Amino acid sequence: MRITKFDKKPIGIFDSGVGGLSVWRELIKLMPGQEFIYIADNAFCPYGPRPKEEVIERSSRITEFLIEQGAAIVVVACNTATSAAISTLRSRFFIPFVGMEPAVKPAASFSKSGVIGVLATKGTLSGDLYNNTLERYASNVEVIEMAGVGLVQQVEEGKLEDPLTETLLNKYIKPMVEAGADHIVLGCTHYPFLSKLIHKIAGEGVTIIDPAPAVARHTLSLASELGIFNTGESGFNTTFYSTGGVEVLKSLAKSISSEIPDSLFRNLNI
Ligand code: DGL
Repeated sequence: MRITKFDKKPIGIFDSGVGGLSVWRELIKLMPGQEFIYIADNAFCPYGPRPKEEVIERSSRITEFLIEQGAAIVVVACNTATSAAISTLRSRFFIPFVGMEPAVKPAASFSKSGVIGVLATKGTLSGDLYNNTLERYASNVEVIEMAGVGLVQQVEEGKLEDPLTETLLNKYIKPMVEAGADHIVLGCTHYPFLSKLIHKIAGEGVTIIDPAPAVARHTLSLASELGIFNTGESGFNTTFYSTGGVEVLKSLAKSISSEIPDSLFRNLNI
């Protein structure tokens, strides 16, 4: 029997904006027949500078909407929301959540120079999740942390290679390289969209780590365990919602999968 996309429950994904598309991109590679619902909370983006309570309330409201739409798993495709809200989400809702892990462990274990860089939002760098991960896995390396102030806004405006983006990245990446970092962890889901410039500034000897492929693998194994993994064929199985404008969401999503119909991009007022 051929399985269609309606046979299995959808997976919800959310971020403060378009950054979570870097996770969605990996998810559709592994699960091309799965139905996804993507929420970009553009009306409240960026989350980084917001109080933790506000990020928890936005994350809860979005989760309620995703569950109303039938989502059986929610991927919190935002490091800042994972750090601020995932434990509250797990206590409020009875579905599994997949969060973003700061990829400090692989960076620290593969580093030859003994120096790694971490680029993330202020909210992530000051959160318990990141600091506990550092304590557990990075005690043997020097960690150069940089808060990527302004980068989320540049990605949200679609300015992936603009001069200001390059200036900001120079400011954040150069000190890491100068300190001898041979691995740089991207601790915000918006940043993989800047990887071309990041590679250019960091140079060839530096490995850039995007945790999205590992998060996608984890989601796939959870979906298989729950019996909601749709092994059907590829299609346009994602509906995209934005609480703000859909334009950048549309152009970035179409740069990943060009044939998505416009009708799948919708405004959401929650
Ligand atoms: N993509 C979000 C993250 O991974 C962006 C944070 C923000 O909105 O400030 O942290």
